[in-house]
Amino acid sequence: MTLQEIIEKDRKYYMNTFGDRVPVCFTHGKGLSLWDLDGNEYHDFLAGIAVSALGHSHPAVVNAICEQAKKFIHCSSLYYIESQAKLAELIVENSSADKVFFANSGAEANEGAIKLARLYFKKKGCPNKIEIITLEKSFHGRTLATIAATGQDKYQKPYSPLTPKFLKVPINDLNAMEEAICENTCAVMIEPIQGESGVNPTTYEYIKGLRQLCDKYGILLIFDEVQCGLGRTGKLFGYQHYGVEPDIFTLAKALGGGFPIGALCAKDHVAKAFEPGDHGSTFGGNPLACSTAYAVLSTIINDKLCENAEETGNYFFEKIRSVKQNHPVISEVRGKGLMIGIEFSRPIAKEVNKKCFENKYLLGSVGDSIIRLLPPLITTKADMDGVIEMLDNVLSKFD
Ligand SMILES: Cc1ncc(COP(=O)(O)O)c(C=O)c1O
Repeated sequence: MTLQEIIEKDRKYYMNTFGDRVPVCFTHGKGLSLWDLDGNEYHDFLAGIAVSALGHSHPAVVNAICEQAKKFIHCSSLYYIESQAKLAELIVENSSADKVFFANSGAEANEGAIKLARLYFKKKGCPNKIEIITLEKSFHGRTLATIAATGQDKYQKPYSPLTPKFLKVPINDLNAMEEAICENTCAVMIEPIQGESGVNPTTYEYIKGLRQLCDKYGILLIFDEVQCGLGRTGKLFGYQHYGVEPDIFTLAKALGGGFPIGALCAKDHVAKAFEPGDHGSTFGGNPLACSTAYAVLSTIINDKLCENAEETGNYFFEKIRSVKQNHPVISEVRGKGLMIGIEFSRPIAKEVNKKCFENKYLLGSVGDSIIRLLPPLITTKADMDGVIEMLDNVLSKFD
């Protein structure tokens, strides 16, 4: 089919939740490269929005999928599943969690976290402790509860009245957080680095202080690591930058390297609140998802991709400094590792992103004035040189 034929079919049959998409259809990829229907090569610095951690068609992922699919794809979690147990062990051995439950997406993992936090207090005899405090500008998913947890009007407005008992406070403001905590609060849920609102990091003092506040008031600390987890920021988990441990954290996106899987991870005393029948999933934790995620996570660890993300990210931040000097239209560059946001002083993000696309670079725009880069964890310094040079050229048209 031609691109035009695909677009027409999409418009006729697919629900229009994405508006006018970028006019391209990719047929295959390798590493950081994607090729379109006409054989044009693109450099993927978005990685399916922080998903394709190992790049495209990584042999470890392809092999895991093919080998497992040849054996069988699915059986219910009514039965024991070897790859499920092994993946849970790999996450636990490399994190602060003691127990894991697998879901199919980030939103679903977060739903699990919300349910677990509420149930934890219910089973402790505190049924009124159901309120969760989240941050303004946060993003936690598209299900009804995770939309309510999200701190952005645009996702919430169409679906009001929202699932109740989610409160919002500004990021990096410990006083506001402490004022919002009340006897009905069961948890604080935050992204250590906010992704969808344009890469907004929390400060070291804030996360340290949050842990102390949660301990002081006996409430749970939940980290949504769906976007910032699994090596993206230069450490396996975002929370490791802050020297604190959450009671619950969630993963998805990079975990399957493109294959859908999410994870709800918790300390033992919290995880115990889930007893037989309290939670479940038909597809969550199935053999294909877990074998694939096991291959992804062990590759991230064994190939030292967190270290690579840190080093290549630092290299980018160093290089972009001179680009910023050349182009005062850049007001701020922020992020950690390979989670990078560039903010402009004018609303040019969409136009800049379009020009990057015309130069065969895939980046993302957030709102009117931010573009972001979330390249695969295998990105090299030479790849970074390419995107820096391209940005320098593109931005000269906006000076
Ligand atoms: C921090 C965060 N949490 C949750 C989600 C939702 O994940 P999913 O789209 O897999 O449901 C996202 C997706 O962008 C995210 O960035």
